Amino acid sequence: MSASGQNGEQSRKPIVIDTDPGLDDALALVLALRSPALDVRAITVVAGNVSLSACTGNTLRIVEAVGPASVPPVHEGHARPLSGRVARAGDVHGDDGLGGITPKYPVRELAVTGGHATQAMVELARQHGEALTIVALGPLTNVAKAIERDRSAMSGIGRLVVMGGTDDGKGNITPTAEFNFYSDAAAAKAVVRAGLPTTLVGLNVTRRTLLYKDLFHQRLAAAEPARLRSFLEDVSHPYFEFGRKESGSHACVMHDPLAVGVAIDATLVNTERLPCDVIDTPGLTRGMMLVGRDASSAAMAPAAVATEVDADRFIDLFLDVVCSG
Ligand code: RIB
Ligand code: CA
Repeated sequence: MSASGQNGEQSRKPIVIDTDPGLDDALALVLALRSPALDVRAITVVAGNVSLSACTGNTLRIVEAVGPASVPPVHEGHARPLSGRVARAGDVHGDDGLGGITPKYPVRELAVTGGHATQAMVELARQHGEALTIVALGPLTNVAKAIERDRSAMSGIGRLVVMGGTDDGKGNITPTAEFNFYSDAAAAKAVVRAGLPTTLVGLNVTRRTLLYKDLFHQRLAAAEPARLRSFLEDVSHPYFEFGRKESGSHACVMHDPLAVGVAIDATLVNTERLPCDVIDTPGLTRGMMLVGRDASSAAMAPAAVATEVDADRFIDLFLDVVCSG
């Protein structure tokens, strides 16, 4: 495996994944749990695509499907945004968040670990400091509240990789806003303004990372164990169907998996350090990400905005890790 950080000799990077599974979250979690470059220290759950309880159940069933050698604790977080009305994405992910497959994958052994997600995130930030990467795949409610709990510890982590926003103003939940930023615009604003070492992986790059069904199924034949292979077939099917309805081809947009990919290998994207902000007032531009490329934006907080992606190398990395024997 060529991508940096993928060979087994290098030490694994400790990461926390904050997630709202979600079909693409499921693919992202499989990538993270199987990557030899990552040490998933905890998974924290936030309401987003579906309710908190549904996201929590989905997280446990995804971990069970992967069956990692070391099972990370799963902590529940916030069930509602900091402010504003609740938004869900059942039209994409199904009412159960996994395209209707949950009855086939009942949670058999795993259970939620005690302790709130934000406390777990802060404790791991204190423990690992700049060695820690936090990957946020859902609304930023938990991350914003963790910063509130201990700004110093959260500011001391190595990287915060956020799947959210977009650098081109073209939203997916509204004409101007991306779903995670729209769902909790106040939290997105607070996190972008907090000045953590943040990389924003927005729709402008994730939309260029397409996993095609034919290729996935070719490679899936080699995936082991059989339980995971069956889960991947089942969880990808509704997402490919959504892609067909949206774009006419059986391909799924790898929003959340790319954020995990960037945690594995930061060179998968080019970034520009740009002043950023998020509109959190109700109305047509709720959740819109502002990126300042002129002097007037000097007051905004700088973030590393992903502007280019090596989509082919990312898809290769994803398939090498997820579909390995
Ligand atoms: O806009 C894409 C994001 O919203 C992804 O994280 C997807 O899971 C949904 O939560
Ligand atoms: Ca998500």
